[in-house]
Amino acid sequence: MSERTQTRSPIIVADNLEKTFFRGRGRKAVQIPAVKPLSLTVEPGEFIGFLGPNGAGKSTTIKMLIGILEPSGGTVHVDGLIPAKHRVHLALRLGVVFGQRTQLWWDLPLLESYRLLKVMYRVNEADYRRQMETLVELLDLSSFWHTPVRQLSLGQRMRGELAAALLHRPKILVLDEPTIGLDVTAKSDVRRFLLRENRERRTTIVLTTHDMSDVEELCTRIVVINQGIKMFDGTVNHLEERTGALSALHVTFQTTPLWDAINLPGIEHLSSDDDRSVLLHYNRRQFTPPQILEQIREAGRIEDFRMEEPRLELIMRTLYEGDGRLGE
Ligand SMILES: Nc1ncnc2c1ncn2[C@@H]1O[C@H](COP(=O)(O)OP(=O)(O)OP(=O)(O)O)[C@@H](O)[C@H]1O
Ligand SMILES: [Mg+2]
Repeated sequence: MSERTQTRSPIIVADNLEKTFFRGRGRKAVQIPAVKPLSLTVEPGEFIGFLGPNGAGKSTTIKMLIGILEPSGGTVHVDGLIPAKHRVHLALRLGVVFGQRTQLWWDLPLLESYRLLKVMYRVNEADYRRQMETLVELLDLSSFWHTPVRQLSLGQRMRGELAAALLHRPKILVLDEPTIGLDVTAKSDVRRFLLRENRERRTTIVLTTHDMSDVEELCTRIVVINQGIKMFDGTVNHLEERTGALSALHVTFQTTPLWDAINLPGIEHLSSDDDRSVLLHYNRRQFTPPQILEQIREAGRIEDFRMEEPRLELIMRTLYEGDGRLGE
């Protein structure tokens, strides 16, 4: 296969892309604006985390990018093609995994699915063999290779799905929750594989996930949408800088504290590992850790405390629940 030529132009360009669904008919039809005019540019080789709470419009956007949904407004170009118009042509350059669905044939052994995909994607025998060899090794497929897809475990199936999406060596990989439901080992295998695919082959990847550690490990840039509107577009570091006022303090009491004494304005009680410890979330501009410790002294004797870095999960929570402003 020839060396991929590096182009300067973006590989995905969405310009005021919009999707409104209608539920019901006639006068009673209800409009659901799933994606409001959304503009987005992705350069070749980027690894984008496309994030947002449930119902934000992520899958809808992705479906427009891959051509299975027609936009209600705006335009989108993927590798120079209009997805809804050039769906078949685009499919040859695109790999897609929907964690919640399968593109494999349920009753066929994995291997048979790949043979069918080989024909569909017009992959020649030599390329097929070479790519299959790599995928079987990297994704460790050989132990369940002859098993019908319906008998595979979730982790096995997901590895099988990734191989299916990459069989024709696409330039762009679109993944909608590929790590959903995977155990820690399977998750880390999938991540390692995706990282390699992106860093070594420069495959452009768009990933949606609710697992913030996926994002921390993989994504060079994140795009956050909420209610169909883009709220943030930049690097994880950039997001952390902009929400930098967020901090967390983990406090352990000698005995179960008086929880009421911890309910202080401006200090949010996030979680407890057990009945003696609590994770407090606060704004660094408003409080210092000694001030917090002073304030919660009424709750009980403090045994230990430690400062926690504002993790991405914490930041996203604030973003999803807040008014969308990032405290510029
Ligand atoms: N085919 C459809 N018909 C009508 N409404 C739809 C359709 N598909 C999605 N929606 C609505 O559009 C909105 C966005 O849904 P979408 O699936 O894009 O969200 P999401 O960001 O992928 O969420 P999740 O994290 O839960 O997967 C939701 O309100 C959803 O109910
Ligand atoms: Mg979704």
